[in-house]
Amino acid sequence: MSQTLQIAVAKGDGIGPEIMDATLDLFAAAGVSNFVHFREVEMGASVFAKGNSRGMSDDAVRVVEDSGILFKGPMETPKGGGGKSINVTARKMWNAFANFRTFKTLPGVETVYSKAGIYLEFSVVRENIEDTYGGVEHRLSNDMIQCKRLISAPGCDEVHRFAFQTARKLGVKKIHCGHKANIMKMTDGLFLERFKVTGRDFPEIEQGDVIVDALCMNLVVKPQQHGMIVLPNLQGDIVSDLCAGLVGGLGFAPSANIGNHISIFEAVHGTAPDIAGRGIANPTSLILSGLMMLRHICLNKEAATLENALLATLESGIHTGDFGDKSKPSVGTKDFTAAIKNNLGNKPKTVPAVEVPAAGETCFVRAPKPAGPQVIRTFKNLVTQVVGCDIYLDSPLSPLALAEEMQRACSDTPFKLTLISNRGTQVWPTGSVYTECVDYYRVRFEIKEGVTPGAFGQSRCVALMDKIAESFTVCSYELLRTFDGVKGYSLAQGQ
Ligand code: NAI
Repeated sequence: MSQTLQIAVAKGDGIGPEIMDATLDLFAAAGVSNFVHFREVEMGASVFAKGNSRGMSDDAVRVVEDSGILFKGPMETPKGGGGKSINVTARKMWNAFANFRTFKTLPGVETVYSKAGIYLEFSVVRENIEDTYGGVEHRLSNDMIQCKRLISAPGCDEVHRFAFQTARKLGVKKIHCGHKANIMKMTDGLFLERFKVTGRDFPEIEQGDVIVDALCMNLVVKPQQHGMIVLPNLQGDIVSDLCAGLVGGLGFAPSANIGNHISIFEAVHGTAPDIAGRGIANPTSLILSGLMMLRHICLNKEAATLENALLATLESGIHTGDFGDKSKPSVGTKDFTAAIKNNLGNKPKTVPAVEVPAAGETCFVRAPKPAGPQVIRTFKNLVTQVVGCDIYLDSPLSPLALAEEMQRACSDTPFKLTLISNRGTQVWPTGSVYTECVDYYRVRFEIKEGVTPGAFGQSRCVALMDKIAESFTVCSYELLRTFDGVKGYSLAQGQ
């Protein structure tokens, strides 16, 4: 027998303890406790109630970091006050960069596709750290609020590599990258470009890309054409819930948050406060997430045996109150789990059974704890040259009046005014009288003819901003730079 692994368990709030106890009981029946010691940690509502705004005790953080794996039940997000969602905090602080969710037709779970005899089995990998989820938000003027969308090359690389490696391991034949690179040419463009670059190392896997709106339609019309889809954070969040709906809802969609050091396995539904404590919650999502966790540590035989038993149970029509044939009585959480236990060793007949491999050893090896936050990089040593700056102003002036002021401000500098835009649309030097403007402008200055690109650094831009700040409220500025001669900025709509 291999050495016992420690996994941190946070049972969660509401129905969390009921479904977690049921799941661990089931895992013990399948022999998982021969390999794994589940160590309970304190997280969630009880910790928030003690005034801890992170929602996890210091001891819980230490145990999770020592274990490298957290198995968690749903947790309540406090309304108001300083408490943030533990789920988001945990993914970010432990850099669980890839959210991996699988969607599979389950017998006894009726959907439009199951009724049509269409079997679904596919997965979504969502980038978990970046995008608008950085939560970098500011009020810029009376009327304008901004959320910065940050996409990095190494962030993309990590999630794409995980997606391709997982596809290779699972024998998935086709990966699509979902994106909106036709509109967000630089951010989503980078996500797509890094997908293609990473994909070169996986030539046996068919690769394609699809614009996210078309993807949503394809998923509803013909979901069986997908093997795996990889998406940026916000788009992935929305698409993965859409996919859960295709196989019966959030109660049947497991979720893994994978990092290089720490991974988190959790049900995607919430704490179901309306049914908490009644013993009627459906543990399927948490069981399926637990199966992903068992496979993460190579307990493939136990995971396959448990999955077949769950499928056989669902197939027999046994169900909790939230799904299944309403003309037949439902069972509670404990009886549902007992039925799965009784089915250990059985296989489903109406959907493909999972192949049960020979018994193996656990394979999880904790990566050494880093001494401090690591800097991850993709591009190094590119030659950058300053060619101008965009200055963002809180101003109620008309575009024309603003242009006159800005031209005066830059007259004795190396810059000329080349563009004013409002909400991303060009309003000067040309524009449409139909464009409505709000009280927040981007003013673009570029080096005059005759000034060599890169002739000076950013101090001249800062000096220009300083001058403008004498009579305007400058909200922010962005340098315009080229990287190995390629423009590192987008053009305005209409430019
Ligand atoms: P919810 O998912 O808890 O409940 C929505 C509906 O689905 C309810 O009618 C509930 O009874 C039912 N339901 C959910 N899981 C079920 C299960 N396993 N078996 C049977 N029925 C189930 O969503 P809601 O009400 O929006 O959120 C409640 C709390 O959960 C909030 O505090 C929210 O912040 C938190 N939450 C936590 C999540 C997590 O920890 N990953 C995810 C989503 C919400």
